[in-house]
Amino acid sequence: MFPIAFRPMTLEDLDKGFVPTLSVLRTVDTPQDKIQKIFDERITKGICTYVLADREHVFATATMIIETKYYRNGGKVAHIEDVAVHPDHQKNGYGKMIMEGLKTEAVAKGCYKMILDCSDKNIQFYERCGYKKHEVQMRLDLT
Ligand code: ACO
Repeated sequence: MFPIAFRPMTLEDLDKGFVPTLSVLRTVDTPQDKIQKIFDERITKGICTYVLADREHVFATATMIIETKYYRNGGKVAHIEDVAVHPDHQKNGYGKMIMEGLKTEAVAKGCYKMILDCSDKNIQFYERCGYKKHEVQMRLDLT
């Protein structure tokens, strides 16, 4: 048994169950070579994807984008996206663990708050992680 660590995702995670983990959110039918290009593009743009993994398995993933505001003297907000726990490992504390990893990272990067959108069924999970309901999400579908 190797220890489970919170760390940035690498391309090696594609062989350790990254895609099946992300697939709990929606079907991932993107070919592997395109995933590699997307990985490079996201790194360039500062879109940081993290995993909770041991040497062989990805247990959870989440993405964090840090935005520097014009106000608050350049204060930083962490936007959280695509939080997912592998279907075989849900309800074992990994969701909470990856949210803690993100929080540590956001604090280290000087963020003053973390925000995310979620469905009603996930409210309780995020409340367990210390979040509270605030305002509403608005959406305009373009395709
Ligand atoms: N309803 C109520 N409570 C819940 C739920 C739920 N659906 N899921 C977890 N909890 C509670 C647990 O009971 C636990 O409570 P405790 O602290 O009192 O023990 C706490 O939340 C932490 O639970 P974990 O075991 O860490 O949760 P898990 O590892 O299953 O991860 C997650 C939760 C991420 C929602 C997972 O079930 C999942 O991947 N779901 C499918 C994908 C998804 O919906 N992701 C979130 C999308 S929103 C976004 O990405 C911003």
